[in-house]
Amino acid sequence: MVIMKLTQWLICLLGSIVITASSAGLPQVRRHAPDWDLAKPMNGLTFQRAKAVKEPSQDRATMHFSHLRGIKGRPGQQHSAVSALSRVRSSLNSAGSFKQSFQNVSALTDASTQYAIQCGWDGVPVWLLFDTGSSDTWATKTGFKCADLGGDAHSEAACGFSKPYIDGFGHGQIDELHFYLKYGSGERISGPMGYSDISCGGVTVSKQQVGLANSTYWHGNNVTVGILGLAYPAITSAYYGDVGDEAPWNAMSYTPFLTSAISQGSIDPVFSVALVKNSTDGVIAWGGLPPMDWQFRGFAKTDLIVANLIGQPETAWKYSFYTIVPDGMKWDQTTDTTKYPYIVDTGTTMLYLPPPLAESIANSFQPRAVYLYQWGTYFVQCDAIPPHFAILISGVEFWINPADLIYQDLVDPLTGYCAIGIASGGPGPYILGDVFLQNVVAVFDVGAAEMRFYGRK
Ligand SMILES: *[C@@H]1O[C@H](CO)[C@@H](O)[C@H](O)[C@H]1NC(C)=O
Ligand SMILES: *[C@@H]1O[C@H](CO)[C@@H](O)[C@H](O)[C@H]1NC(C)=O
Ligand SMILES: *[C@@H]1O[C@H](CO)[C@@H](O)[C@H](O)[C@H]1NC(C)=O
Ligand SMILES: *[C@@H]1O[C@H](CO)[C@@H](O)[C@H](O)[C@H]1NC(C)=O
Repeated sequence: MVIMKLTQWLICLLGSIVITASSAGLPQVRRHAPDWDLAKPMNGLTFQRAKAVKEPSQDRATMHFSHLRGIKGRPGQQHSAVSALSRVRSSLNSAGSFKQSFQNVSALTDASTQYAIQCGWDGVPVWLLFDTGSSDTWATKTGFKCADLGGDAHSEAACGFSKPYIDGFGHGQIDELHFYLKYGSGERISGPMGYSDISCGGVTVSKQQVGLANSTYWHGNNVTVGILGLAYPAITSAYYGDVGDEAPWNAMSYTPFLTSAISQGSIDPVFSVALVKNSTDGVIAWGGLPPMDWQFRGFAKTDLIVANLIGQPETAWKYSFYTIVPDGMKWDQTTDTTKYPYIVDTGTTMLYLPPPLAESIANSFQPRAVYLYQWGTYFVQCDAIPPHFAILISGVEFWINPADLIYQDLVDPLTGYCAIGIASGGPGPYILGDVFLQNVVAVFDVGAAEMRFYGRK
């Protein structure tokens, strides 16, 4: 009897030693859930494999590039995947805690960076918000009406657009047609459509169909005067008839800037983005790679998936996101190979991961990160040691610079802790934001329907 107990105890002891050893030292490959079936929508988004129309482009440095200027966001001023998704979540009335985590994270002032690009609008230099989630390109019209949510007029300055405003269309207005856009943030823009010459980073599209906003409800940043929409060309927001009568039957699709640039032959059907480390700036190259002297480590390509969000019944509220399915995530000795769609988004700062992954990775900081409810995200001692963390894409490990995993300037005043770069994305979809994009050059090969990544040293 006694001997048996002792044996049992020994077995238990050995068992616990083995368990301790495997969680501390030996590599562990696991899955926390079944892979996501892309045929199923995820919280209002539907997925679709993009169609290839040509062979992949050869990645070569191009002289067609523009600098991206980072703009620190303010609450309610984001036009990112996060703001769109939190809006869907609230409209779907999904799990409150997840909703709250998204909203609170976007309330972290310094944590949100959007990017602006300088383009010529019929020859006039303007700053536009660089947006990979929408397809329409528009600027603010001279004499526009700046209104609040209730429709009451305010001074132009209250809408926060930069100058110059645009007087009219270089190649004429289109009769009977207008554009009307609603963003996830609740902001609204409408006005006439026409044709203008748009040129960004040496890529010129003549007679591009664009909008001029003559009526706006907008929380601007005083840097940009409109948006350059670079989403996968599935969605545009032009309508026949009167403003206010937007419906699927009077919607008219048109060719957005990127598609026009490709079809007018000025670029290969590719653009690539590299965010500069430890800075708010970045570079976008058209038709190739930015001509920078980078040393690459690791290269991968993967299918481009388009995630479409068509808000119903609000037909004017549409997004489309560049999405990939990574092989998984790796941190220290653990690899999780559960496959989920992840949106690749420059307008989102952090990485939004499935909750069990975010939790495990937060726990692997030394000392471990803690979840602060008032912020809805994880914080850690500012001098903590982050895990070795990589995102696996098509068998290649893309390592994240440990310094990018702790925001030294995002401090909780109560604890003195710093926010970490990894957050829970709740019920999904998940997002690869700037924490990832600062460590790669991301190539959006729209023509070949693939994304390519070069790891940066
Ligand atoms: C804005 O443009 C639309 C479409 O051209 C037009 O119907 C409307 O009257 C204009 N509104 C203002 C305030 O100028
Ligand atoms: C933009 O300028 C307006 C008016 O000067 C100011 O009230 C507002 O706070 C500014 N917004 C930002 C984001 O700087
Ligand atoms: C986060 O959300 C909660 C509940 O909505 C709120 O009480 C708290 O003040 C928010 N925190 C921040 C930093 O906005
Ligand atoms: C970022 O830049 C600051 C100064 O601008 C420097 O103190 C810091 O060490 C840099 N961080 C990294 C990770 O390079």
